[in-house]
Amino acid sequence: MSSQIDHLLSETRRFAPSADFADAAVGAADLYERAAADREGFWADQARELHWHTPFTQGLDWSNPPFATWFADGELNVAYNCLDRHVEAGHGDRIALLWEGENGDERRVSYAELTDEVKRVANVLQGLGVGAGDRVAIYLPMIPEAVAAMLAVARIGAIHSVVFGGFSADSLRARIDDAGAKLVITADGGYRKGKVSALKPAVDMALADRNGSGVQETVEHVLVVRRGGNDVEWQDGRDLWWHETVPDASPDHEAEGFPAENPLFILYTSGTTGKPKGILHTSGGYLTQAAFTNRVVHDIHPETDVYWCTADIGWITGHTYVTYGPLANGATQVLYEGTPDTPHPGRWWEVIEKYGVTVFYTAPTAIRSFMKIGREVPQKFDLSSLRLLGSVGEPINPEAWMWYRTIIGDETAPIVDTWWQTETGAIMISALPGVTETKPGSAQVPLPGITVDVVDDAGEPVGHGNGGLLVITEPWPSMLRGIWGDPERYKETYWDKFADKGYYFAGDGARLDDDGDVWLLGRVDDVMNVSGHRLSTAEIESALVGNEAVAEAAVVGASDETTGQAVVAFVIIKQSFLKAHPAEGLASTLRGWVGEQIGPIARPRDIYIVGELPKTRSGKIMRRLLRDVAEGREVGDTTTLADTMVMSTISAQVK
Ligand code: WTA
Repeated sequence: MSSQIDHLLSETRRFAPSADFADAAVGAADLYERAAADREGFWADQARELHWHTPFTQGLDWSNPPFATWFADGELNVAYNCLDRHVEAGHGDRIALLWEGENGDERRVSYAELTDEVKRVANVLQGLGVGAGDRVAIYLPMIPEAVAAMLAVARIGAIHSVVFGGFSADSLRARIDDAGAKLVITADGGYRKGKVSALKPAVDMALADRNGSGVQETVEHVLVVRRGGNDVEWQDGRDLWWHETVPDASPDHEAEGFPAENPLFILYTSGTTGKPKGILHTSGGYLTQAAFTNRVVHDIHPETDVYWCTADIGWITGHTYVTYGPLANGATQVLYEGTPDTPHPGRWWEVIEKYGVTVFYTAPTAIRSFMKIGREVPQKFDLSSLRLLGSVGEPINPEAWMWYRTIIGDETAPIVDTWWQTETGAIMISALPGVTETKPGSAQVPLPGITVDVVDDAGEPVGHGNGGLLVITEPWPSMLRGIWGDPERYKETYWDKFADKGYYFAGDGARLDDDGDVWLLGRVDDVMNVSGHRLSTAEIESALVGNEAVAEAAVVGASDETTGQAVVAFVIIKQSFLKAHPAEGLASTLRGWVGEQIGPIARPRDIYIVGELPKTRSGKIMRRLLRDVAEGREVGDTTTLADTMVMSTISAQVK
């Protein structure tokens, strides 16, 4: 790892923006000066770009750390900011969503149409008894209704919890229960990899009779969008079709102002324990930073740009850079339903050519998989409309960065590598495309108004050239406000480590180079990053031991050329199970099991059946050693193991 880092840090290539790009860019160098001179005043200026029903007089309140508030005495309506105000400003005919279904279906939705739809949905939700503070689970494919559903929930001051459509019924149920959702919005199914993938059955399973389970059912209704056309089971009284209720609802709905700290959404993400954390975001500060960062990092010119962020709305990137940021800015964006390679490997490039996409935001894992297929595929399409490229979700290696620049960006489009997290709500570290000389592989500089450092375990800055832990040293507007229902876990996870300094601990390793640019070095905890998705080793281990065959399991993230990291599991099978069943095919059965328990993204790439696991004398599994095996390396220092022979046995078994 360390030689790889030194190699990265000796990267000397620099790419300045062209004079034309810099001249026209939204974000200019003076933003840094303004923010440095008066950080809170700077954020208040950004917040005033939004429409406030009641203007705020307060900025940051940090009197009760780590619980922050921003603009707390102001009132706004998030949906009004994303919709009505653009219509009222005369932009109702501007296209908000250029939707492309995987099967080739198309819909163009203008700001006026989206506003109308959201008003109707808001009326439907209120008619179903959903009001401010209630939780609504959204389990939908990438269709315009997904965006409309989020905004309708926001419009009435309720709280959405979007669950990625690739999650299993069990994962969905856990999220519905934790949030106590009153309503679920789903679809019959959506197109994925050339066929309809059903969604409603997972909802039905999640809500199946719970008599005796001790869990009180909170869900009263399920609102179902028809998209896949697949047959679904129906529970009269509980289930409602979107197309039978929304069009009949009134298109009049006045947007009420809600306090800036009114919760906007809960989004579950993996932590270091088995139970996903419900990250809580609120309204005013979140929308301020979402809109600001989208404007200056993605350089949004709403009259001319066609923006495309490829993230699913089930992840934070989809929340901030599909729904809230671009719509708050009145941008026109592509929304694509399916997978990148269906029906052919050039599908994304075809979409870029078709809609004339100018700003494109995607993940390194996608770029690496396109690299593997070869440049011939994108080169069949006209990508000349692209003027800015972005990357998010994991470190982008310089090779992938250069390929992105050369093959996709025609050596002219700046690349912004954006570091942030579900918890930070919006981009924190990134180049400004019209200002910064970009550097392949580095996320570079904190944005104006954001302060970060790289410190040692005691919270002392490590200085240039040394590795350490990334911290955020001052509160920011779109910061998480807590973990749903668990303030203790919020403190413990993010703030206890540097409690005396008041720093936010991000969980990422980082290094500053001689210019002070930030290089991200991956997670320092037991969180894996697979294709830009966060997965917890503990969560997958607990799914594995939930199988009747498994006695013990240890999971590690092993580096993988395409996906960044891959899930590798080491499993001990129960002797009693082996007596009654053949060992054959067990690894693939268990892989499928994890897929059912959590979702296909969590399926281990490799499952090794072993006789023992490496443990310290106190019984802690030494994942570092398993990672050595999984990555095909010489096994490191084993002297702290209770039984030093274990690793040679495991290595032999894996071979
Ligand atoms: C990683 C996704 C390096 C990091 C927005 C972080 C990155 C985790 C980058 C958050 C980047 C995200 N360079 N690493 N540009 N962006 N990460 O919550 O480890 O899904 O802690 O948010 O992804 O993942 P999350």
